[in-house]
Amino acid sequence: MVTIETELTSITIDPLTPTIGAEISGIDLAVPLSNRQQIEMHQALLDWKVLFFRDQDITTGQQVAFAQHFGELEYFPFTDLVHVHADYPELVMVHHGPDLPGTENTWHHDVTWRLEPSLGSVLRMTDVPATGGDTLFADMAAAYDGLPTDIKEEIDGAVARHDFELFRNVLRFKGASDAEIASYEARYPNPHHPVVRTHPETGQRSLFVNAAWTREIVGIDPARSERLLDLLYQQAKHPEYQCRFRWEPNCIAFWDNRACQHYAVSDYFPNERMGERASIAGDVPYFDPDQPVTRSHGESPVRGAIVGEIAKQAAAYRSAVG
Ligand code: OGA
Ligand code: MN
Repeated sequence: MVTIETELTSITIDPLTPTIGAEISGIDLAVPLSNRQQIEMHQALLDWKVLFFRDQDITTGQQVAFAQHFGELEYFPFTDLVHVHADYPELVMVHHGPDLPGTENTWHHDVTWRLEPSLGSVLRMTDVPATGGDTLFADMAAAYDGLPTDIKEEIDGAVARHDFELFRNVLRFKGASDAEIASYEARYPNPHHPVVRTHPETGQRSLFVNAAWTREIVGIDPARSERLLDLLYQQAKHPEYQCRFRWEPNCIAFWDNRACQHYAVSDYFPNERMGERASIAGDVPYFDPDQPVTRSHGESPVRGAIVGEIAKQAAAYRSAVG
């Protein structure tokens, strides 16, 4: 059969919130995307930061092919710590259950311990608990935008050190030798990333520190760094910046790791939850002070009570650091 692409071919976008998250329909991910679908999907990812798909009964190979439309896939290097797919070693198996408690239930960007953290990931849930196990995403551009001006001025251009410490701890616990750990450290030395990242495609500024991997803001007093990071980590927690996805069989999430953080709710005991994650290689994060500040599209300048809450958090930080 020959499919003739017409001007009418187009995806349907149903936003979950004004700035972050959209469900995409009118597309079959079992077949390669047309150029037009790829362009539309790419734009939708930039616009909505995370895309969700339902009713996509696709194979692992089709998932890989879908992800490859957006760049080269990266391999997860800590193969002693995670299971990877037997046939597609670039896929990480995200598996939790009664004997394997969740670990993705902290707000985080993925793999910021890499010099080039991933552009994004395509996660297909293969074993979905009847209830629970939702994933939340937070718009870190909106979170940046909601900060008081003096805090923005303090963090624009600041740089933070990231480290895979959590993995180092698990490796030690599992009896890895110093030489093995040193070999990981040599391959993945601590990167310094901008605290505020300019998105390489949209130009938006977003908060690019996370509680899982960021260790300190470099060049400032350690106590100040800790307080400032705490203040910044808290910003992902405001519901006004978030969307929440409820999984069902044959669902896929595709997030822009440069623009959002995510959190997998670990509330489905004693059920199992399993997914397969393909990650697209990213680039070196940077901050461009000359790029004009752009708001998230659809962003409300009126966020009600959280404006006061953020002001209180910032005031507590200022009084703690003097
Ligand atoms: C991940 C992750 C979220 C989820 O795979 O990086 O954080 O919902 N997963 O399992
Ligand atoms: Mn993650």
